[in-house]
Amino acid sequence: MAKQDDSAEPDSGVNDAKPGKDVARSEHPEVSSGTAVVRSDSFENPGFPPHRPRVTDVDPKKDAQAERRVVWLFYASIVGSVFAVAAYIAFPITEGDMGSVRLSNLLLGLGITLGLLGIGLGAVHWSKALMDGHDLVEQRHGTRGSDATRAKAVEVFALGNKESGFGRRALLRNTLIGALVATPIPAVVLFRDLAPAADPVKLLKHTIWDKNVRLTRDPDGSPIRASDVTLGSVFHVIPEGLNESHHKLEEKAKAAVLLVRMNPAELKESEDRKSWSYDGIVAYSKICTHVGCPVALYEQHTHHLLCPCHQSQFDVSDQAKVIFGPAARPLPQLPIAVDDEGYLIAQSDFTEPVGPSFWEREL
Ligand code: FES
Repeated sequence: MAKQDDSAEPDSGVNDAKPGKDVARSEHPEVSSGTAVVRSDSFENPGFPPHRPRVTDVDPKKDAQAERRVVWLFYASIVGSVFAVAAYIAFPITEGDMGSVRLSNLLLGLGITLGLLGIGLGAVHWSKALMDGHDLVEQRHGTRGSDATRAKAVEVFALGNKESGFGRRALLRNTLIGALVATPIPAVVLFRDLAPAADPVKLLKHTIWDKNVRLTRDPDGSPIRASDVTLGSVFHVIPEGLNESHHKLEEKAKAAVLLVRMNPAELKESEDRKSWSYDGIVAYSKICTHVGCPVALYEQHTHHLLCPCHQSQFDVSDQAKVIFGPAARPLPQLPIAVDDEGYLIAQSDFTEPVGPSFWEREL
């Protein structure tokens, strides 16, 4: 990397070329390629048009009026943000009532629009009417400026502060800070409300499966007798009552199960899971332990279950262990039994979190 030449003439930051004067050609021995933009063609610098002072530069009354306008715009921004939060709380969305959805969205939109518009218009008006209005040229040079350039930058910054009145116009500055602080508040309130009230990790560890809940067909919810499940057949299963649940889709995303009947002699079951199946019928979570796709492709001859997303394969005959692909753990098994009427029922909820293995690390 080329060494910066500190002895070079400091860059004033202001274009001092005069109209008609040629800009220097590409010979720049003090900079190496890659650290500066080298101009290769000479052309006539048109210079700046004559400076025209604004009314706020020459009339202190207009200056004060402009400042008041900016202050009111920042106040409007604060009011808009507060209004958005108040409207969100005062006009909650009622489930199934589209009128309440429209009203809430309308009031929220108006509040947030006012909040953002107030800051935007205030900042633009401040810069156009009140900040000093001379032309500047930003020179391109090496990443680190010389000490003289850095000192100049500090000086320019201090000058900018002075000219913008940021330090001097306390009311204007404070209302801007207030508006900037208030603007994100609606977003915080809204996004917080999107999360479930209960601990989301806890919610993911439980499904609506429970002791004695019947296994039913997806999607009609009709219960399944053990005798309906013939050898080699596959059932897509949901818990009884799921279709009546208020949060049907969320619950189904966790509770979906695949039911398979195999020859009991082909099942490899650990001692503690021998009672989890019924006469060769086993039930496993349908939610892939990789990133949660539905595992639904069953190959009857090999007893392999394939996830179509990234090709993980699980061996149903061997406790749904992973035999191929990126999934990191077996599909959770649902312990099942049969009730007095011959219908398949769950013995309990899953004994481990379903879905992506990320949650396993939370245990
Ligand atoms: S989600 Fe099943 S393999 Fe990736």
